[in-house]
Amino acid sequence: MPAPVITAIEEHVALESRMGGYEAEDERAAAIAQSYASIGTLINAAAHNIAVTSSATMSFIQALSAFDFAAGDVILTSRCDYTSNQLHYLSLAKRRGVRIVRAEDLSEGGVDPESVRRLAQRDRPRLVAMTWVPTNSGLVQDVGGVGMICADLDIPYVIDGCQAVGQLPVDVAQLHCDYFAATARKFLRGPRGIGFLYVSDRAIRRGDYPLYVDMRGATWTAPDEFVLAPDARRFEDWEFPYALVLGLGAAARYALTVGVDQAAARARALARRVRELLAQHEGMRLLDRGTDPCAIVTVDARGHDASALVSALRRRRINASASLRWYGMIDMTEKGVESALRLSPHYYNTLGELDVAVSAIDEITAR
Ligand SMILES: Cc1ncc(COP(=O)(O)O)c(C=O)c1O
Repeated sequence: MPAPVITAIEEHVALESRMGGYEAEDERAAAIAQSYASIGTLINAAAHNIAVTSSATMSFIQALSAFDFAAGDVILTSRCDYTSNQLHYLSLAKRRGVRIVRAEDLSEGGVDPESVRRLAQRDRPRLVAMTWVPTNSGLVQDVGGVGMICADLDIPYVIDGCQAVGQLPVDVAQLHCDYFAATARKFLRGPRGIGFLYVSDRAIRRGDYPLYVDMRGATWTAPDEFVLAPDARRFEDWEFPYALVLGLGAAARYALTVGVDQAAARARALARRVRELLAQHEGMRLLDRGTDPCAIVTVDARGHDASALVSALRRRRINASASLRWYGMIDMTEKGVESALRLSPHYYNTLGELDVAVSAIDEITAR
């Protein structure tokens, strides 16, 4: 997290400890409202289209829960959708009898929008759900292309943009999505434990609301009646860590100040460099598919267990992460790997740091 994000969080915690949590919320009401506006600006949406949640996963769940799936309903998705989303679909299949249909991939990797069109016309899905950048590789799926098809066929569309926000320019209007789920803590450089959900005007007008709407999202107006909040807040919970809401707002403003286009270009250039450096070492198999992979670099480093490699790198103060086969069951199985080392350079990394990291990986795995 950059300094302004940390300051926003720390100052609010200090204010809460001085005057009380509810009192601090009232005191900072304008700044809290500004967080919604800043997130909106980042993705080209209005403040009233933003719901703040505890995570990207919770955002995605809230969106899914707005649909009353019945037995036989189809969820059309991709082979590379994020692990937890695949688990939600499987749970809906088991508990509600929903049918999961996964569109075919393009030969270079990533969902084929034309396959989405064919399947959507054949099955008339209740929902199309796509992950923009899956967790287990640098693949960037054509969520905009899918969005045009959904708009064409008038099918509700949910995007998981968790790994995209802060690393790719996002314009929800161009994506033609009903919902867009994201988190603070990844490329946006915000705090852990907070995320947001974009809810389109179309979804609000349609009267969508989460299955377990609470007293933030609705008012109990008569013993058997309730009235929904008029905006995306119907997807929120009543309780909030306001320090993190302010931290998320500060992260959005920081990203806007840096410039998302610039941040995206530099992160991608650094990732390209990481791939070049890794390719210079024998036995390093790059795993990212797609014509223009993003700033998530995944590699099978001479067959080494990625979790052990992450620990070894951490001892050298190099942060990386591991993707295990079941994080991307279909994709990783096809690639024939049990685990992949994941390196995600961001714009603040230096070329020197990339050299150090790749040399360390080479040294550790050569032993
Ligand atoms: C594509 C994708 N979606 C969703 C998530 C979950 O994010 P969160 O932990 O904020 O729920 C992740 C986390 O890695 C992710 O990579």
